[in-house]
Amino acid sequence: MQTRKIPIVVALSAMSLTAVFAGGKHPPGHHHDEAHWAAPAEAAQRRNPVPASEESVKRGGEIYQANCASCHGVKGGGDGPASAALQPPPPDLVVMAPQHSDGDLAWKIEEGRGVMPAWKNALSQNEIWDVVNYLKQLPEKTKSQGHGHDETHGHEEAKK
Ligand code: HEC
Repeated sequence: MQTRKIPIVVALSAMSLTAVFAGGKHPPGHHHDEAHWAAPAEAAQRRNPVPASEESVKRGGEIYQANCASCHGVKGGGDGPASAALQPPPPDLVVMAPQHSDGDLAWKIEEGRGVMPAWKNALSQNEIWDVVNYLKQLPEKTKSQGHGHDETHGHEEAKK
């Protein structure tokens, strides 16, 4: 897989857009602006046309590592090298993937929001479904590797 990296500078400059209020469904005063990002129903209900075969997951993993890991982390934990600078921080996809339909995840990847780039022009539709298949098996994979969260948690090196 060739890298199609979005230069981080570009991504960061998109941060100013994060504040753009998406939607307008909620009347002002209704306190659900914080509601979790969700795809429109018809996009969320799309069936994933690409079977989650080993090959698809493998392709998705390659696309993921090349394009997504810088923010979302090598294991999807939301802890990529660029994540510290991002507001909002990239979500933990190990946690998120099981909570959303394939169509919902694909839509978010296609459209992006704020810092999260839109991928519909950079990736083919099938590649996006491959990535969705990859994301869906992250929890399994993380489990079998003995809980993906790094044991080096809490840098206690500072001895001053
Ligand atoms: C520049 C950093 C960056 C890169 C690169 C990036 N993301 Fe994101 N992603 C984010 C941020 C930040 C959010 C949260 C956006 C928000 O909620 O406004 C996000 C949100 C998401 C979500 C939504 C999760 C949820 O809340 O339901 C998915 C799915 C996702 N990203 C997948 C991907 C995939 C797949 C790629 C690679 C093709 C990718 N991202 C690349 C930063 C990034």
